[in-house]
Amino acid sequence: MYHKSPPGRYHLQLCRTLSCVLCKMEDIQGHLESRYGIHPGKKTENGMFSLALVECLGSCGTAPVMRVNDVYCENLTIEKVDRIIEACKRGETLEEDPMLAH
Ligand code: FES
Repeated sequence: MYHKSPPGRYHLQLCRTLSCVLCKMEDIQGHLESRYGIHPGKKTENGMFSLALVECLGSCGTAPVMRVNDVYCENLTIEKVDRIIEACKRGETLEEDPMLAH
């Protein structure tokens, strides 16, 4: 997908297709919006995060799923999202933490 403007340092792609909807991706989206001010189609003021709602990421069996740059974060919960966002804020690499990636 092409970006019309530069995405955030961490570009979040949250799946909005059936399996993820059934596994409450709306709760994840709502949490990103209300707690962190991360809204679909927008970038945070500090440029750190942007969010896109995307079609199936091909990992329906581990829904809900969000891709953070090139890292798949699966079986998302609100608590896991909090850990992911905080790790990004600290500049940590998600690939190295099996509790966050996968
Ligand atoms: S429906 Fe979300 S990964 Fe397939």
